[in-house]
Amino acid sequence: MIKDIIQKKRLGYALEESEIKEAFLGYLEGSVADYQMSALLMAICINGMTDEEIFVLTDLFLNSGDVLDFSHIPGIKVDKHSTGGVGDKTTLIVVPIVASLSVPVIKMSGRALGYTGGTVDKLESIPGYQTELSADKIKKQVLEVGAVMMGQTAKLCPLDKKIYALRDVTGTTDSIALIAASIMSKKLAGGADKILIDVKVGKGAFMKTEKEAQLLADLMIKIGKKYGRETRVMISNMDRPLGRAVGNALEVKEALDVLQGKQQGSLRTLCVELATSMVSMGRQIPMDDAKVLVEESIDSLKAYHKLLEIIKYQEGDISGLAISKNVVSITSLKSGIVQDIDAKEVAHLAFSLGAGRITKEEKVDLSTGVYINVEIGQKVEEGDILCYLYTKENMTPSCDITKIFEIS
Ligand code: URA
Repeated sequence: MIKDIIQKKRLGYALEESEIKEAFLGYLEGSVADYQMSALLMAICINGMTDEEIFVLTDLFLNSGDVLDFSHIPGIKVDKHSTGGVGDKTTLIVVPIVASLSVPVIKMSGRALGYTGGTVDKLESIPGYQTELSADKIKKQVLEVGAVMMGQTAKLCPLDKKIYALRDVTGTTDSIALIAASIMSKKLAGGADKILIDVKVGKGAFMKTEKEAQLLADLMIKIGKKYGRETRVMISNMDRPLGRAVGNALEVKEALDVLQGKQQGSLRTLCVELATSMVSMGRQIPMDDAKVLVEESIDSLKAYHKLLEIIKYQEGDISGLAISKNVVSITSLKSGIVQDIDAKEVAHLAFSLGAGRITKEEKVDLSTGVYINVEIGQKVEEGDILCYLYTKENMTPSCDITKIFEIS
């Protein structure tokens, strides 16, 4: 009985495979109610799961929907995933780099939820860009262009989708066991041969400490191994926003800037690291050799042209990228050195401008967001511009900059 299963987990015992199936498949089919699953998820959050329990749950998520098979497309297909952050536009930069180096990528992404952004929204800020592709179109594009960047198909891991929606409203998102099963089931269902996960850690991420991030990383590597898919994990900081732009069209513009060599710094460095790992896995070459290829691809603008090619193939018109014309400059109230920029506060600000959503049904204003004009360690004078707010028409944004920028 579901009541006994909840109680068993509440008392800290490991569940049998049959019990996990009864609870989760029962929830999918409707015999287990939202309030019962909420209680079980809370008990899992508090008491965790053993590796065996996590494998069973991953398998249930994975097999609840379509499992894609791209083995008919030649080459080692490599996928990447980020556990979610603020200003994380790495997919837009990394996928074209990797594809330009003859490693095929089929990248399926999600939408923004809460304060973390989603690649599908970013792509949709490019007028005309198609994020839903049929299996035939995916195959044709991968063979001709080397990569697709699209939304996750509706039939991938429906059980995870239902559970994720419930976790989102019941304070049960930040369980390492549940996150590992959720992410890995989708990556396994996505059909790639090798997987790279970028685990974010810090104020603007699910994982707040290095220790938690490492536990999550180890778990995902174990799950990948169980399914015979090489999985590598990078742990990267998310105390501060990634790059300068937070907001959909603004982030696409920043990705273009990085690939055109107009922007150096931490965003480019992280993208080079991620792409290097993917090229190393896809071409089965040492990391040092892969890094040389990645740098060359950016410097020669090969990756930039690849991004334009992908956008055009998916019917996007990059010349129509709409960034809001209503721009408000936010200036410093004092002189000093920029000590910190709080990722979560920047995310809340971008959110208040319309760049994010709380419920899945909400519409995002793709043209709005925040562009940070200073770097950590930079000296600023009173009155210098700290950031630009791209707002909706006739909006007077309110913003407490002392919460975002630490200057002393
Ligand atoms: N991303 C996911 O897909 N699932 C989680 O549980 C957390 C982040």
